[in-house]
This record gives sequence, C-alpha cells and structure tokens, in this order.
Amino acid sequence: MYIIYYVLLVLVFTIEYVSTVEETLLKMSKEERMSLREESRQMFYHAYDAYMDNAYPADELMPLTCKGRWRGVTPNRGDLDDVLGNFSLTLVDSLDTLVVMGDFQEFSRAIKLVISDVTFDHDIIVSVFETNIRMLGGLLSAHVLATALKNDVPALQWYKGELLAMAEDLGRRLLPAFNTSTGIPHGRVNLRNGIKGLSESRETCTACAGTMVLEMAALSRLTGQPIFEQKAHKAMDRLWTIRHRSSDLMGSVLNIHNGDWVRKDSSVGAGIDSYYEYCLKAYILLGDEKYLVRFNRHYNAVMKYISRGPIMLAVHMHRPHLQSRNFMDALLAFWPGLQVMLGDVRPAVETHEMLYQVMQRHTFIPEAFTSDFQVHWGQHPLRPEFLESTYFLHRATGDEHYLQVGKMVLKALQQHTRVPCGYAAVNDVRTRVQEDRMDSFVLAETFKYLYMLFGEDKDLPVNLEEYVLTTEAHFLPLSLATDGLSAPYLNLKFDDDEDKYKKVCPSTSSLVTQHLREPMRQMLGSTAARPPARLLPLNDPRQIDALSNMGISVLTLPDGRVQLLYTTNTASPPRDAAEGLTFMREMSKWSTLSDMENGVVAAGIKINDKIFPAGPAQFGREITGSDRYVGTPVTVDPIDACSDITNAKEVAGKFALVGRGQCTFAEKARHIQNAGATFAIVLDNVKDSSHETSTLFAMSGDGKDDIDIPAVFLYSQEGLYLTQALRENPALSVTIGELHSMKQEYENACDNDNCEPVTNAKTQPGDKESLNHLRKVLSKLVVQFELSVANEEPSLKSYIENSQDLHVPRDKIVNEDACDQNVSTASKDVKEESEKNEFGDF
Ligand SMILES: *[C@@H]1O[C@H](CO)[C@@H](O)[C@H](O)[C@H]1NC(C)=O
Ligand SMILES: *[C@@H]1O[C@H](CO)[C@@H](O)[C@H](O)[C@H]1NC(C)=O
Ligand SMILES: *[C@@H]1O[C@H](CO)[C@@H](O)[C@H](O)[C@H]1NC(C)=O
Repeated sequence: MYIIYYVLLVLVFTIEYVSTVEETLLKMSKEERMSLREESRQMFYHAYDAYMDNAYPADELMPLTCKGRWRGVTPNRGDLDDVLGNFSLTLVDSLDTLVVMGDFQEFSRAIKLVISDVTFDHDIIVSVFETNIRMLGGLLSAHVLATALKNDVPALQWYKGELLAMAEDLGRRLLPAFNTSTGIPHGRVNLRNGIKGLSESRETCTACAGTMVLEMAALSRLTGQPIFEQKAHKAMDRLWTIRHRSSDLMGSVLNIHNGDWVRKDSSVGAGIDSYYEYCLKAYILLGDEKYLVRFNRHYNAVMKYISRGPIMLAVHMHRPHLQSRNFMDALLAFWPGLQVMLGDVRPAVETHEMLYQVMQRHTFIPEAFTSDFQVHWGQHPLRPEFLESTYFLHRATGDEHYLQVGKMVLKALQQHTRVPCGYAAVNDVRTRVQEDRMDSFVLAETFKYLYMLFGEDKDLPVNLEEYVLTTEAHFLPLSLATDGLSAPYLNLKFDDDEDKYKKVCPSTSSLVTQHLREPMRQMLGSTAARPPARLLPLNDPRQIDALSNMGISVLTLPDGRVQLLYTTNTASPPRDAAEGLTFMREMSKWSTLSDMENGVVAAGIKINDKIFPAGPAQFGREITGSDRYVGTPVTVDPIDACSDITNAKEVAGKFALVGRGQCTFAEKARHIQNAGATFAIVLDNVKDSSHETSTLFAMSGDGKDDIDIPAVFLYSQEGLYLTQALRENPALSVTIGELHSMKQEYENACDNDNCEPVTNAKTQPGDKESLNHLRKVLSKLVVQFELSVANEEPSLKSYIENSQDLHVPRDKIVNEDACDQNVSTASKDVKEESEKNEFGDF
C-alpha cells in the first residue's frame, strides 16, 4: 500500500505548493520501534532526573539555568505562574508516568516524597483549572494506580490511600471558587483563603470552567463526598445553558457572575478545547447520558461550522458562518484524538495530517499558525496534544505512518530542545531559540504519549481499556461509573437487556481497537457522529460535496482569496482522488488567467479617461457587446439601499451609487429601480479591495425576475476613484458596457495616441474548452466565498451588537425544556436573519 501524503495548496492568485512528502510507508521494524520506546523512556528520565536533582521540591524546573522555579522568588511571568502553588507540581504531575514506564520503585519513592513534602496551606493564588487537571488529577491517578497495583507490586504494599486524603484537602481548597451565583467557578482561587480578598476577576474561559467534572467526580466517588461532583456538574449544566441556542457553539470567555459571554469566538482550540473533551469523557467515565447528548450537539456544531476539511476554523458563536480569526492554535491538536475516541476516524486523519504538514514545515507546531500554515505565534512549549492524537490514531488505524510521525517528533525534541538539564521549551520555532521553561505536562503527557506510542498497550502495567485518560493524561478508572454510585448525582438507567446497557455505558475499549469502535458508532447513530456535508453553508451542496469527495476543501483567507486544499488521502474512492488532482492542476492553470477569463463576462466602467473592470449581475438587464449605458451617478439614501430610497427625486433617471452589505444585491437593485434610477452601481465595503487583488464575480440574483435595470459591482479602490471624480465634478457622466468591447473601442479610439488603458488584461492562453466547466464551478465558488467574507468586516460590530438581542433573557429561563421551546422560535428568527446577511448577498 503506498499512500502518498500530498498536499497542494492553491490560492486563487498564487499557487503555493506546500510540500510533497512521499513516504513509501516503510514498515517500522520491531527493533526500531523498541529502540524508539527506549529512547522515549530515556528522554523522560533525563527530564525527570534533572527536575528531581535540581529543582524539587519547586514546582518546575528551569532547564537552562538548571534550577527550580519558585512562585514569588523567580521573576513573575504573569498568568503563566498561576500553575505554581508551591506544591511540587512537576512531581505530582509525573507520578503516573512512572507507572506507565513500569518503574514501581521510583513510583513508590515519589509517592512517599509527595506525602511527606507536599502541602497546600499556602497563601498563593492558583489557577483552578490547572490545579484541578494537573495536581488533583495527578494525585487521584497515582492513588488509583497505586491502589490497583498494590496487591501485585511489593513496593507499593505500604500504600494506604494517603494521596486520596491529600486530593480531598486540595479539592476542598478549590471549592470556594464555585461560590458564584451561576455556579461557574472563578478562574483563580487562593489555596488558603479561597476567594476572600481575591482581586476581582469576573472572567473565566470555557475550558477553565468546563474541565473540572472528571477529577471532581472521581474525588467524590472515591471519598464518598458528593459535594465536589455536584459543584462540577452544576458548572457544566450552566455552561450548557449558555451555549448559543441556534448554533450549539460555545464562546471562549464568559462572565462568572451572570454567565454572559465576554468573547464569542468559537473554535476547538485554546479557551474551549477541553470543555468539549470533558462532555464526551464525562459520559464515558460516568455513563451519564446527558453528557453524550450535549457532546453530540456540540460535535455536530463543530463539524458543521468549525471543521473545514482538515482545517479547524474559529468562528463567531452567534454568526457561525463568519470566521472570527484566521489562525489556529496548537491546542486544537487534541481534537483528532477525541474524534478517534468517537470512532470518527476520517476527519481525525485529515486534521492530523494538516498538523503534520505544519510540523514538517516548522519542525514544531507553533502555538498559533495561519490557515496557510504560516507562523502566527512562534512559541512551542513541548506540548503533548499532537502526540496524543498521533497515539490514538495509531491505535485506531494500525497505520505505521503514525509511528513515523512520532519518530519525527522525537527526533525534533532531541535535536532542538534537549539541554544538559532537561528539555527546554522553544521560544520561536523559526529561530529555535530556547526558553528557560519546562512545563509539568512535558513529563505528565508529552513523554508519556511518546512512550506509549512506541510501546504496546499490553505492556502497560494496567489495562488501558479500564481507564479514561484525562486532559492531562491522568488515569481515572471506568469503574467509577458504578462504584460508589449513589442517587444524588446521577441516575443511570439500568436495563435488563445487557446489550442495551453496554450501549449506555461503553467501555474505553472503544478507544483503542477498531472493531470495538463500531458499536460506539452505531450507538451514536449513523448520522450523529458523521460530519454533515462539509462546507454546508454554501449554496450548492452537491458541488461542494463533489469537491470534498475529491479530497478538496475550500476555505477563504481573510483577504478574500479562496484557498483550495487537496489531500489525496482524504479523497474517497481513489478514482475521485485522481479527479481531484486533475481538478487542482486545472485550477492552477486557471488561476493564472485574468478576471475576464474566469467565467464572468466582466463589465467595464469608463470614468473620465480610464476604464475599470466591474462585476456584472446575474439579475437585471444583461450588459453585452456594444451596449453602452451613459449616465451620472448619484448616491442613494440610505446608502445600502436596503429599504425604500428617500432621495428618489435626485436619483430618478440617474445611475444609483449604493454600498454593499446588509441585504442582497437583488434587494438593493429593486429599491433602486423603484426609485426610478436607470442603473445600479454597487461599491464594495471591504477596505482597499481592488480588481487587481480580488477576482471579479457576478452578483447573484434571488431567482425572481422583476429587476429590469442593469447593475455592476466595483471594488473599493475603483469605487474610490469614482466617488472622488464625482466630488470634483458632480455632473460627471460615466459609460458602462462590456469590458472587452469597451477596451477594444477605447484602444481603437486611441490608435497611435499615447493614451494608456488602465486595464491590463493579459492575452489569454487558449484551452478554453477544457476549462469551461471548471470556470463555472469556480466562478460560483469565488462568488460565494468572496461574499461570505466580504460581508464580515464592516458589519461585524453590528452583528455583535445585534447578537445581544438574540439571547433569551436569563430570567425567563425556568428550566431547559421550557426554555428550549421558546428559544426554538427565537432561533428561527436568528437563522433567517443570518441567512439573509451572509448568503443572500449574492
Ligand atoms: C514558595 O516556597 C518558597 C520556598 O519555601 C518560598 O521562598 C516562597 O516564598 C514561596 N512562595 C510563596 C508565594 O509563598
Ligand atoms: C459564598 O459567598 C457568599 C456571599 O459572597 C458568602 O456569604 C459565603 O460565605 C461564601 N461561601 C463560601 C463557602 O465561601
Ligand atoms: C414561553 O413562551 C410562552 C408564550 O409566549 C410564555 O407564556 C412562557 O412564559 C414562555 N416560557 C418561558 C420559559 O420563557
């Protein structure tokens, strides 16, 4: 089997060939795999020993200066330091990695150190989220594993649950954070004083509030104290109620006191990531179906709005068709692993492959990168997420490609980050300058996943299928779903039908082997876990579907260009993949053609002595051949012409100048026609756009046939030229016709003169036949994408403002059912409006 991992990136005006990695998938020999496993183990110990010898009991090791990082002693790094609580963070976080390595002696010794040295009664403000996932998770995992192994491992027989008592102490110190009217926890808490005297921060991130429930539930069930779990469930319940009611997406930052969103951008990366993860894992660990229902809703939303082939966008939760930023962050690399857990392997393969491209290009995955894979933020603190996904994909597919990926990560770590005293974070992947920083997750996760990838699950001292790995790769036992279970926190419906019970409470065996994933997929419903047709927002689903089957994803860059991304291995069946490649080749040919040739018969507008290309309309009178329209432009009021024209008197008989946006082109033309104008000239609302940098397109109609007047579209720079000319001469008369014919006429008129046409249409290569079909497809795509992007900027503010109105007043929320009913009508309005704004503007 020779799969070619092959990515072609085509921008409409530039063709960028990213990389072709032909990996004849060398089967990795058992010896090589074992030696990589051994190397991973040594990497872990190199870091662990460096920490123990030079930093312990400090929270972290500083690998360049080779000493401990102490809160309040080492220069403050701001929020980053909120992980430090003077509680030997790195050791606690590393405990279960020692188990994974089978090093029970050191595990036993380390637990004893934790028991004797680590205390929590410090006047230190820590991050609730980080303390929960790293410290509480680390303590619980070590406790669970020590307890499970105790009978078989002599070195652990002394253990009597001391870590659990410590976990309970720590858990109680986190509880005050939940003392808010919403139940959504504060982002930070003072280990000694709770939230008393805490400088008021009202904001927290979605992931921060929504990544508590696994550890808290484990703590409750292991100690028999329901309070922890109750608090965490309540926070999850509240988060669920504030999801966007029509998109089912979450924002990234919220106000803990009233549950209002502070930042509404929605992605699967930073700020949100592990909230989604915990919805699914709460279901897996606790068997509570409500979490599965929630996860499915979120998952479908993510696949609908955020996933674009391999790319994961960030969108506005309330305007999910609008991209909110054009970069992705490294944290989203966990997502493919989560998809594998779901059994949705194909999109996981795609996104992982995209990340692999990023990694190959920059050696490491930078903290943030753009959708054309440029570095946005260059840091790389040796994060584990990509390895985590690599591990799960390898287990799910058995594809040795993932071992090769892991090997490449390992070599990069060795070559660029290993220092005499541990492993140093990369400050900028472009320069590979190092940073005096080694986060605890490097030991808790990065080396753990690396080791597990090259190892085999059967070599682990515990059966992985009996555990859920938390977001920090700590082990929590699936037996929690039934052990220590009592009524207050959950009502599992037991059923006589054993099969049905299995479906309600899947074992994580589904995490690892393909045949066991099958039932899970069925359970989720054949459609539930499948992504809806990619690129659904587009008008012609079949078109896009066809492209997607050919392995081509389409997305827009912030400047309005369309980017096509082609991956062979995402195309199904191979025949389609071949077509995809042909399509991409034609595309690249096409992309060298000019506006005039891209399938749109361009119009031209002559202003003074210059001719500019203009986009035609698919409605109104067609502008052909020798047609010439001559008139004086007048600006209409309102400028967007989305309602009746108030200055009809001035406009009648003239050419109406109108701004793009707010309503459809056809609606504008209708109002203008009613006002008696003879022509509609629509000016772009994207600053500085010009026909030289953006493809011309035809303004689409709405299927009605009632518009008679012709219309053209001008990009901003041409529009600016026109409005300036008008300012100088309000009686200015312009001529509009078909560009090609105008240009000819103009050139003829200029024969032997030295007048210089502005348009610089190149002479065209022939080969039009074969490109006809392509152009049709493309002009359509370009139109659609151009528009969905072009609408974004100017109206963004009003979208955000409007969205306030779209929320259901909180005091009306009695319970979810009642609320859902009322929202269903509200969300319908929202939807209609959003469709109007985004896609009507054709
Ligand atoms: C943490 O512990 C160190 C060493 O005992 C101490 O110097 C430092 O002040 C403590 N930090 C805080 C914030 O209490
Ligand atoms: C919770 O907050 C209320 C009001 O701010 C306060 O009266 C109460 O003591 C707090 N409870 C805890 C456990 O901190
Ligand atoms: C839902 O709408 C109905 C009718 O408009 C109203 O009577 C009811 O109070 C609303 N319920 C909620 C929870 O807002």
